[in-house]
Amino acid sequence: MKNVFLGIRARKLLIAGVFSALIVLFAGAFNKGSFAGDLFFDVPKGLDLDLKIPKDNPITKEKVELGKMLYFDTRLSADETVSCATCHHPMTGFGDGQPVSTGIKGQKGGRSAPTVINSTYNDTQFWDGRAASLEEQALGPIQNPIEMGFTLEGVVKRLNGIEGYRKLFQSVFKTDVTADGIGKAIATFERTVLSGGSRWDDYNYGDEKALSDSAKRGLELFNGKALCSSCHLGFNMTDNGFHNIGVGMNNENPDLGRYNVTKNEKDKGAFKTPTLRDVERTAPYMHDGSAKTLEDVVELYNKGGEANKWLDPKLKPLNLTKQDKADIVAFLKDLNGMPIAFEAPKLP
Ligand code: HEC
Ligand code: HEC
Repeated sequence: MKNVFLGIRARKLLIAGVFSALIVLFAGAFNKGSFAGDLFFDVPKGLDLDLKIPKDNPITKEKVELGKMLYFDTRLSADETVSCATCHHPMTGFGDGQPVSTGIKGQKGGRSAPTVINSTYNDTQFWDGRAASLEEQALGPIQNPIEMGFTLEGVVKRLNGIEGYRKLFQSVFKTDVTADGIGKAIATFERTVLSGGSRWDDYNYGDEKALSDSAKRGLELFNGKALCSSCHLGFNMTDNGFHNIGVGMNNENPDLGRYNVTKNEKDKGAFKTPTLRDVERTAPYMHDGSAKTLEDVVELYNKGGEANKWLDPKLKPLNLTKQDKADIVAFLKDLNGMPIAFEAPKLP
């Protein structure tokens, strides 16, 4: 009996050994081969190394710098008062800290500004997924009448009148300022806005002490009884899918979210599962900013979401104890990455 037992153990060890060797080999290949361009910065711990860089928009240091200028430049809006950073500011977790956003002339939109952090990993952009890429997304707000209220023609003409921008575009794209170039440069900057290296990542990399006991219980609930990981999963804590959890569905004219894009009945009231990285820094929550705190969010899930005809069947009343709720919140706070500090760049 004893020998058989040892035999199994030895075999297990051998298999584990071969497996580790394969993982090391694989990791080596992955590190060398998976980028569309050479990365000149480190991808934070825990994040996928594949930044989904399109073949026709390689990442370069110069392009990131240009994109950052455009991102912080209010001249991209009609009346020169609003930039991307107005609604997606580094100080507020690359969101705006408001339930819904305010664009030019104090106009309020109907949705909350999601964080730009880790947006390069999203399969689709916007709460309803109506843009396929960051390149495409970036030109949306410029033309949105209540955000930056401008036209692509107008912005191209204005920036071409600024010698510094013309020179930079010539250097990066070998053209004068074009709408295509504006989208590509901003998207390239956004690909560098990454949050990882959180206590959760340290824990996943083997540091048992990285999470407090409460956060460890929270993680267990997150992946178990509280069902969170049926939608918030993987390194970016999202399935990139769309679900109706009932937010705002009691309103007289509810925002139907994904349905507006697909016209599929089942998509009514469904919104994109957001990343939970840096979530403590991006309050208020949900597409309409209706949840003020993480405690409010957990309370909503505890009752099984907001009842409505299209509610996702994954949601059920959870019967969480007071301690369970506190543990989940403690875990969510340990998803904060290294703070991302960006100074507003000097503009041309
Ligand atoms: C007036 C506020 C405002 C301005 C200005 C603004 N945004 Fe947004 N942004 C929003 C809102 C609100 C949404 C969500 C809209 C929706 O889902 O329909 C959004 C969505 C996004 C998303 C999608 C993120 C995701 O997870 O789906 C990205 C990326 C983004 N904006 C980048 C930018 C860039 C780049 C600029 C500048 C060119 C910009 N935004 C200007 C408010 C703003
Ligand atoms: C059925 C899929 C699903 C499940 C299960 C789920 N979520 Fe979500 N989560 C979503 C979607 C979709 C949204 C956005 C909903 C909206 O804005 O209307 C969201 C939003 C959030 C937000 C707000 C993030 C932000 O930036 O606004 C937090 C925090 C969150 N979920 C945490 C959790 C926790 C904790 C659990 C488990 C208790 C959980 N979720 C379970 C799909 C899910």
